[in-house]
Amino acid sequence: LAAIEVNVSSVAPGQSITAKWRGKPVFIRQRTPEEVTAAQTVALADLKDPVARNENLPGDAPATDANRSAKGKEQWLVMVGVCTHLGCIPLGQSGPYNGWFCPCHGSAYDTAGRIRQGPAPQNMAIPPFEFISDTTVRVG
Ligand code: FES
Repeated sequence: LAAIEVNVSSVAPGQSITAKWRGKPVFIRQRTPEEVTAAQTVALADLKDPVARNENLPGDAPATDANRSAKGKEQWLVMVGVCTHLGCIPLGQSGPYNGWFCPCHGSAYDTAGRIRQGPAPQNMAIPPFEFISDTTVRVG
């Protein structure tokens, strides 16, 4: 299936854009240092879903921030923006974990897109992707 290439040169720290891939929104966010630190300091034992859900990694990779973010570019998060409960599109930079909040039934995700509270069973999915230059992400 078709891959997409997204220019992220205009996405400053603290900003994100939403691309469309396979009919789904893909959030591409340049996280602030504070957001990265917040995600890195979460104990794995506190996570509801302990695996990374990252299609670029083995299925049993743990849900560390390093396994959720872009390799070598840890400030970037590239994620399918679909709530893993019933498929609503979560709102960014909201909710009790300052990540994403799904208004449909109250699932709260952290700054690495990991489910922390509410009915959603899984972390939001990380699609196949790579940075093919400093400013271009290929998804798919
Ligand atoms: Fe997101 Fe139900 S669809 S909480």
